[in-house]
Amino acid sequence: ITTSVCIIGSGPAGLLLSQLLANEEIDTILLDRKDRAYIEGRIRAGVLEQGTVTALEEAGAADRLHREGLPHEGFELAFDGERHRIDLTGLTGKTVTVYGQTEMTKDLFEKRMQQGQRFFFNVDDVKPSDLKSDRPRVHFTHEGQHVTVECDYIAGCDGFHGVSRQAIPADVLRTYERVYPFGWLGILVEKPPVSHELIYANHDRGFALASMRSNTRSRYYIQCDASDDVADWSDDRFWEEFATRLGPDAAASLQTGPSFEKSIAPLRSFVAEPMRYGNLFLAGDSAHIVPPTGAKGLNLAVADVRLLHRALALHYRHGKDDLIDAYSETVLRRVWKVERFSWQLSTLMHQFPENSDFEKRMQRAEFDYLRSSEAASRAIAENYVGLPLD
Ligand code: FAD
Ligand code: DHB
Repeated sequence: ITTSVCIIGSGPAGLLLSQLLANEEIDTILLDRKDRAYIEGRIRAGVLEQGTVTALEEAGAADRLHREGLPHEGFELAFDGERHRIDLTGLTGKTVTVYGQTEMTKDLFEKRMQQGQRFFFNVDDVKPSDLKSDRPRVHFTHEGQHVTVECDYIAGCDGFHGVSRQAIPADVLRTYERVYPFGWLGILVEKPPVSHELIYANHDRGFALASMRSNTRSRYYIQCDASDDVADWSDDRFWEEFATRLGPDAAASLQTGPSFEKSIAPLRSFVAEPMRYGNLFLAGDSAHIVPPTGAKGLNLAVADVRLLHRALALHYRHGKDDLIDAYSETVLRRVWKVERFSWQLSTLMHQFPENSDFEKRMQRAEFDYLRSSEAASRAIAENYVGLPLD
């Protein structure tokens, strides 16, 4: 089989790339080791930057997002129950939009299916090869058959555990990593959110985040031990801990109920360089992971895809490879800034087992500084709404 761009991974990065390329009449094939229902069901991110919304508009997949997404003009930071609002719109003129990754993925799948996108689901043994040749290939098994796709370019959108990054020779690939000594326990509950804006809270007992998926569905998280099992966390235990960490003021309006999703995610910072090797490009979680504080993971994946789309469009439309040649460097410059922000906000908002009283006072001083300085608050705000593409 042949195509222009073979995209490994049909998560948000792969789907969006295929849609943006389809809009330019550039042919793609999408592969995934899972199926559509599984991918649509993965509960993950919930906050979209304005640039991410723009990308979905450009893709032609933003109608439902505009109807159902919730625009947010600010969010709150809380320390031991004291609260500070970051006025995103006042400080940056921008907003963010609450719209689940599940919904964004459904919208993109629907549009790709309508337009007859070629998909291979439930594939195994995916192997990119001939990356340095002008005819790279992707080999895999599908329904017991061996399949080879021949293409111009391969886009590695296969997430952190994918094969694309591993296809870059070890003497070329450099990786940078920090694993945090805790996880996030998250639940979904069919109750209105505790506040109309998100609250990120640091408390002696650990971090908590009050988020939402709609005006009737809440998404709440607490910092937990990396070794905890969801089975250790009954709903009652979760609610007690969550309310304590939010503080009495916010917790007064908390509506509790049975959770219908409960999972633990580890926290990690990770970057792989370069993000291009021959005719293979990495985009999204295949190249980098951020800790979830600040809601950057999905938005960063979308920013990579926007730059990759521009680079490929320039090649196919005008035969120019300038943006392709600059891709890795351009994209990584932005990636590192977003890594920095996610690391900083994580460092500010969590209880680290190794922290001495000194570090705790540093966290508190940073919070007090944010409360007293518009410049410091604006620095948080401009990162939260999303840095410019280049
Ligand atoms: P993915 O969504 O991981 O998609 C990769 C796709 O590739 C998957 O469909 C996978 O099945 C497929 N694949 C993997 N290996 C292969 C292979 N060998 N062959 C073929 N296909 C393959 N971000 C936030 O901003 N906020 C959050 O609250 C948040 N929570 C998260 C919770 C969890 C548990 C995780 C894992 C991530 C979370 N993220 C969050 C991050 C965000 O969801 C990701 O940044 C985003 O999904 C990245 O999109 P992607 O398309 O690059 O990768
Ligand atoms: C959500 C996740 C985040 O990591 C975050 O910073 C904000 C919101 C969420 O899942 O709703």
